[in-house]
Amino acid sequence: MPSASTSVSVACTAGPLAAVDTDVLIVPWFQDEAVSAVAGLDAATGGEIARALDSKEFQGRAFDLFVTPITDSAWRPRRVVLVGGGGERSSEMIRKLATAAGLAARNRHVARAAFTVRGNGSPAELAQAVAEGLTLAEFHGATYKTGEPPPPAPPAWTVVLPDATDTACTDAVARGRILGECSNLARDLANEPGNTLTPREFAKRAAALAAEAGVKTEILDETQIEKLGMGLLLGVARGSAEPPRLIVFRWDPPGAPASPVLGLVGKGITFDTGGISIKPADRMELMKDDMSGGAAVACAMRAIAQLKAPMRVIGVVPTTENMPGGRAIKPGDILKSAAGKTVEVINTDAEGRLILGDGLWYARQLGATHLVDVATLTGAVVVALGKVTTGLFGNNDAWIDTVRRVANRAGDRAWPMPLFDDYREQIKSDIADMMNTGGRAAGSITAAMFLKEFADGLPWAHLDIAGTAWAEEAKPYLPKGPSGVAVRTLAGLAFEKF
Ligand code: BES
Ligand code: MN
Ligand code: ZN
Repeated sequence: MPSASTSVSVACTAGPLAAVDTDVLIVPWFQDEAVSAVAGLDAATGGEIARALDSKEFQGRAFDLFVTPITDSAWRPRRVVLVGGGGERSSEMIRKLATAAGLAARNRHVARAAFTVRGNGSPAELAQAVAEGLTLAEFHGATYKTGEPPPPAPPAWTVVLPDATDTACTDAVARGRILGECSNLARDLANEPGNTLTPREFAKRAAALAAEAGVKTEILDETQIEKLGMGLLLGVARGSAEPPRLIVFRWDPPGAPASPVLGLVGKGITFDTGGISIKPADRMELMKDDMSGGAAVACAMRAIAQLKAPMRVIGVVPTTENMPGGRAIKPGDILKSAAGKTVEVINTDAEGRLILGDGLWYARQLGATHLVDVATLTGAVVVALGKVTTGLFGNNDAWIDTVRRVANRAGDRAWPMPLFDDYREQIKSDIADMMNTGGRAAGSITAAMFLKEFADGLPWAHLDIAGTAWAEEAKPYLPKGPSGVAVRTLAGLAFEKF
């Protein structure tokens, strides 16, 4: 793989802004703040900030930038950049501001920059969000361009806590860097085309990046998958010349209690043509990202090990292509899952739920007590929630609440969707235990109802990231391309009490 994202250096300092040893001092500035909100800053610029606020040249609107020299020679930074925060002072906003500032600083070839921690929340929480955001800005997706110089190196960063003597800052920044880097690794995998990232290659890379951090990994081949009876995964793989794999991750920290065991399951379709129920050509190239859920699981496992999570965690990623080869499954075919349930395949393009059914079963076999799966599962979730919100489904309100809270804190906004028993009707089959599709109505819900059958009553949550895994339009804090969604959520869960 061509080398992707650079690794960024982030130092930490507490104390007065005037003393920060940097070239460019970045300060979040919220709408309607008085010029005195950051003591001494306006005077250091010779009154330029007051002038810009008065004239409305700078109003603190979200992601607006205002650059001005620092004229007071007693200050070490040479320039200040105000980055508008709008009216929102959450750590989520601070993370986005840090990414926006990081992208801007890098584009302008800034050598040394400092980001001032401001906002609502503990200094540690905010400093972590800043480090995450600055690291996310280092993702570089144009890895196959041959004619262009590599992107400018990122500045050397300092995170500044203006009025704290905070020793937690260094740890918070280290956590934020790990979570940002693991998100970027997931983005690299999602960005990789289907011809280089085959199931075997995906398994190799995913296992390696987790193993490097101390996770036990195992890659099961098609013979072992068959021995386990995984007819759903094997069924989807039939249409492809590439054999499937099952990637298994185990984090077993010494002294961890026997339970709970967090079980993470990710969809690993390295390319989704739809199979015999083939997709239209328009935008089909985006289906190289259909392993984003699996990448999120692999990269979360790496973060969990690097952050030394206290609980046991199991990761399971079934991976295959979904192709329309001569031996491919056909509509009407019946497959038998490892759990023993039979499935009538109505649409071969509803392949994600098939491989996840076997994946969820295997996570239970390995002893998971709480399940979360992540998948680019349905176009219907994009209709329901758009490109900015992940669909959250589950069979246990307390577990859904936990996942939702952790996701929102991580900046992976998720919203709960209903799974009433009535929806089960839609996937009833005349010939088998269930069908793999439930018609047009409530498409993301019937997909989740299918998965629920394989949770077998364990607390289970499902994140449908079909809308959030890939940005089709650039935002100030997220360039076009893979987002790394769910990595920080899954890693965060390993630190929760449940
Ligand atoms: N990978 C797709 C879902 C998807 C669609 C992800 C758009 C990202 C953007 C999934 O395998 C799929 O094809 N789902 C079908 C299900 C249908 C056949 C019931 C869909 O959503 O159309
Ligand atoms: Mn599909
Ligand atoms: Zn798919």
